[in-house]
Amino acid sequence: MTSHAMDDTRPLVITIDGPSGAGKTTVSRRLADRLGCRYVDTGALYRAVAWRVDAAGADYRDAQALKRLLAELKPAVSWKEGCMRIHIGGRDVTDGLRSPKISMLASRLSALPLVRAYLLDLQRALGRRGRVVFEGRDMGTVVFPRATLKIFLDASPDARARRRYRELAAAGNQSLEEVRRDMQQRDRNDSTRDLAPLKKAPDMLYIDSTGLSVDEVVDRILAGLPRRGDLARRGNGPA
Ligand code: DC
Repeated sequence: MTSHAMDDTRPLVITIDGPSGAGKTTVSRRLADRLGCRYVDTGALYRAVAWRVDAAGADYRDAQALKRLLAELKPAVSWKEGCMRIHIGGRDVTDGLRSPKISMLASRLSALPLVRAYLLDLQRALGRRGRVVFEGRDMGTVVFPRATLKIFLDASPDARARRRYRELAAAGNQSLEEVRRDMQQRDRNDSTRDLAPLKKAPDMLYIDSTGLSVDEVVDRILAGLPRRGDLARRGNGPA
């Protein structure tokens, strides 16, 4: 634990929002490690809903079917060697969540009020005891508007497409151009939807990770953390 770990009992919530490929997961994981706390990848929760809809062969536009699926979904979250894992019905589904098909379905599902309301409660429950880094699209705007520190993590479209491509290359299914095209489509979905669109709020610390190492980004975030006395005065709470 570093000197940044602050008071263990204080509800520390850091939110990191931004588009896909900006480095949110890598940065959140490293930040959580340096602070001695946990991170929650909320995109994985949306992906878990998509995984379940896909596995059931359901039509995501059928509200009744979706309602039934959500009622019995009950995703559980655990951490193994610092990485967040998601379990559905006792099965670890994490490795099946990053395919292009699930990515696109998650983006579509994330525009639906039913899905957002369901995950809002779950995310707030995960943050109740504090000391968590949350990454997603609406963490600082909707889910934890009073977070200790709110980050908007961005990168150039080219850097983002290359990162995502490298990530997916291990699974070997998409060309760089296909990755770029899918990313643009998801960016449009995620930032133009009516409900909780991705946007940079005025009280967020903006960081462009293009050309920065993970530790350089994390150092900037740590430098932006209010000191203990400031936290006490703000009555900092997670939600
Ligand atoms: O971060 P990601 O690519 O794993 O997220 C998958 C999708 O979930 C993304 O297209 C938008 C949606 N999402 C969201 O709407 N709100 C969040 N807090 C996190 C993700």
